[in-house]
Amino acid sequence: MPDIFTQTINNLSIIGISSPRLEARMIFAFLLDQSQDAVGTNSTLSPQQQELLAKIIKRRKDHEPLDKILGYRDFYKYSFAVDCNVLSPRPDSEILVEEAIKLAKEEKTTSILEFGVGSGCLILSILSDCPQLRGVGIDKSTKAIEIAKKNAEQLNLLPRITLKQGDYFSPLDISEKFSLIISNPPYISSGDIAALDLEVKNFDPLMALDGGPDGLCHYRQIAVVAKPLLQDGGHILLEVGQGQADDVCNIFDRQGFADKKIVCDLAGIQRCIIFKK
Ligand SMILES: C[S@@+](CC[C@H](N)C(=O)[O-])C[C@H]1O[C@@H](n2cnc3c(N)ncnc32)[C@H](O)[C@@H]1O
Repeated sequence: MPDIFTQTINNLSIIGISSPRLEARMIFAFLLDQSQDAVGTNSTLSPQQQELLAKIIKRRKDHEPLDKILGYRDFYKYSFAVDCNVLSPRPDSEILVEEAIKLAKEEKTTSILEFGVGSGCLILSILSDCPQLRGVGIDKSTKAIEIAKKNAEQLNLLPRITLKQGDYFSPLDISEKFSLIISNPPYISSGDIAALDLEVKNFDPLMALDGGPDGLCHYRQIAVVAKPLLQDGGHILLEVGQGQADDVCNIFDRQGFADKKIVCDLAGIQRCIIFKK
């Protein structure tokens, strides 16, 4: 009879989890409140922990993402609380964070605004690495703002960030101008949502996914609302979906953002566009 850690790897593998060893480590670390390095074939679980393990595996079988079950997700250099009210942070978005940090350091930027802050993983990572920066994060979802506040508190960033519930489509009560604006808006075409993986479709909020009929609605709105909020010489950094870079460049060109740079992610996909005002 294999040990319970090996059994868990086998059970996760049987239900189709693609990284069963990694997930077993994450689950055991969570159950035992230990680091992932400390858990393995020597780990033992109490009967209560075994019951919880069975529930976790059942939820994974029902396609619930592990981060939403455990309540946290590692992103960039930090750990973020997540739940069903926020998009699970994606590794693809780290490129935007790295580019924003580079710019903020080169240009000695002091202020940053994020449209669609969600869990806060983007702006809070940037603020953590740039102590001179202060930020404002906006989200339409009240529950997402609550999670972002929790993450700001955990990272000791509450003194440097204002988190506001609001819709960037309607005029925002923001009088200041920012040197950096970032956004990873919803960019899936409405018609493609039904075909998304169950882990995404059933557990990420629709409000974080749906980019309208052609997936570009939010970019059109942001191109208009961002302009007066950006300082002259300031930058806007946007995450885009696969194949959307040219369309998004055209949308921003029409608003007068001609100066641009496109950055690819590790898979070589055009993922982040940087416009200068
Ligand atoms: C793709 S998620 C990105 C979340 C987070 N920035 C990240 O990268 O993980 C987009 C976010 O935009 C928010 N959102 C959608 N429509 C919005 C609107 N009209 N005004 C403000 N926020 C909106 C959603 O609630 C969601 O949190």
